[in-house]
Amino acid sequence: MIAIKSFGITGVNGYIVDVEVDIAKGLPGYTLVGLPDNAVKEGKERVKSAILNCDYKFPIGNVIINLAPASAKKEGAIYDLPIAVGILANTRVITKSLKDWAFLGELSLNGELRRVNGVLPALLTAVEHKIKNVIIPTDNYNEAAFVSGINVYTARNLADVVDYFAGDMIDATPLCQVQTANFETLLADAVYPCDMKYVRGQFVAKRALEIAAAGGHNIILIGPPGSGKTMLAKCFQTILPPMTFNESMETTKIHSCAGLLDAEHGIVLTRPFRCPHHTASTVSLAGGGKFARPGEISLAHNGVLFLDEMPEYNRGCLELLRQPLENHSIMISRAAMTVEYPASFVLVASMNPCPCGYYGSRIKRCKCTQSKIQHYLGKISGPLLDRIDLHIEVDQVTYNDLTNDKLAEDSATIRKRVTAARAIQNQRFAETLIHNNATMDAAMVKKYCKLSSEGENILKSAFENLNLSARAYTRILKVARTIADLAGSPEILPEHLTEAISYRSLDRFNRGVNE
Ligand SMILES: Nc1ncnc2c1ncn2[C@@H]1O[C@H](COP(=O)(O)OP(=O)(O)OP(=O)(O)O)[C@@H](O)[C@H]1O
Ligand SMILES: [Mg+2]
Ligand SMILES: [Zn+2]
Repeated sequence: MIAIKSFGITGVNGYIVDVEVDIAKGLPGYTLVGLPDNAVKEGKERVKSAILNCDYKFPIGNVIINLAPASAKKEGAIYDLPIAVGILANTRVITKSLKDWAFLGELSLNGELRRVNGVLPALLTAVEHKIKNVIIPTDNYNEAAFVSGINVYTARNLADVVDYFAGDMIDATPLCQVQTANFETLLADAVYPCDMKYVRGQFVAKRALEIAAAGGHNIILIGPPGSGKTMLAKCFQTILPPMTFNESMETTKIHSCAGLLDAEHGIVLTRPFRCPHHTASTVSLAGGGKFARPGEISLAHNGVLFLDEMPEYNRGCLELLRQPLENHSIMISRAAMTVEYPASFVLVASMNPCPCGYYGSRIKRCKCTQSKIQHYLGKISGPLLDRIDLHIEVDQVTYNDLTNDKLAEDSATIRKRVTAARAIQNQRFAETLIHNNATMDAAMVKKYCKLSSEGENILKSAFENLNLSARAYTRILKVARTIADLAGSPEILPEHLTEAISYRSLDRFNRGVNE
């Protein structure tokens, strides 16, 4: 019996799988056990063809393959290569010791090694278990370039691997060793798909987005059709602080498991921007399902989840967001186990103010009845609204703004200010588990958002005059803290507070409509 090391994935974390291959005497047979899914089972036939097509002999006895531990469900095609290596080691085609090696990769019928999902979590598991060498498919090369502490080699096909371990190819190794890449250099070249400088006017909305980015606050943009809500939201990703190496690895792991990494970079360099359609199912949003994939909210990890036209999403989808917005992860129950996916994102939502879209607009008159507007706003439940710190009204840009040739501030400039404000927060929360103002709990709000007596008075009269709801209270304090951080002010000054109060339009709106 020969045991070859490989990997399995639950959620976005790996574990070691031993691929045991035994060839017993007796009637010819070929069996695969150890909770394999269909892709793994089909691998059995791929392996046989690949071995035969590479001109090696397939053993005649009873071939039994066991994937251990047998308790965990194995998924995907990554066991093709270790199974083939195990069989060829049994038949003495491979003679060198395989003790310090692990393998993963899908085989084509003629023995080519194909790119697989989940390579990054697998390699991190190898590092953890002190496995010295791992062989992966050539097309997964870039994904391995940021893992240090092990030797990773890529192979193009089964013959490359066999030649290496057959023993007589000492000088001309058919394998290619992965060179580690420098994260900082790559990061400097990161490209964004859009830029704030092309958004004309909309100064209030841009300022609010800057605050949201600086403090990690969820934000909703409310405005008539064509006012640029979608455009603004898309640019939000470009003003967030650059990803740290650890954040990038976390996000890359998730994208790796979902098979979404582009082969060219192999790493996620810019914060993700995910915009699931409003017809999206709860499974595609939350993750799980038959093939245990991370959902949109996890693909948005360390980045932005954009819900365009939020009231159009089905209620189940919106309610599902409550848990990850609170815990920054989501638990998915599957038949055999529960997996947890990270899901820490800033929520950016957009909506029209009413069904026709023009309530409160200076361009067109709204034709909706009060009850229709009420019904429309009611689609977003209180508890969800409760987690959105900034409500911004966006109106159409004026002709003058639109035709003004002067380009606005670019994203890089705004990003610098945001990054500086984040640095203040990193220091503030260094001893805690949180990183930004938005995630402060009640005790922290009390500690870090102290007001002067003048500030207290402003807040008090705002509550009385503007009909603010109770839930607005801590939201306003947190946002005011971020505004003060952007200004480099240790204290929350009255002007920071009044600005924060101005970003609660839905509270006033809801009240206005209800009464
Ligand atoms: N401030 C702006 N600067 C430059 N172009 C703008 C601006 N606002 C809107 N536009 C242009 O108008 C188009 C429509 O904007 P966008 O789709 O973002 O509006 P919207 O508010 O999302 O509308 P809807 O409610 O219909 O989805 C944009 O693609 C852009 O070309
Ligand atoms: Mg839109
Ligand atoms: Zn209307």
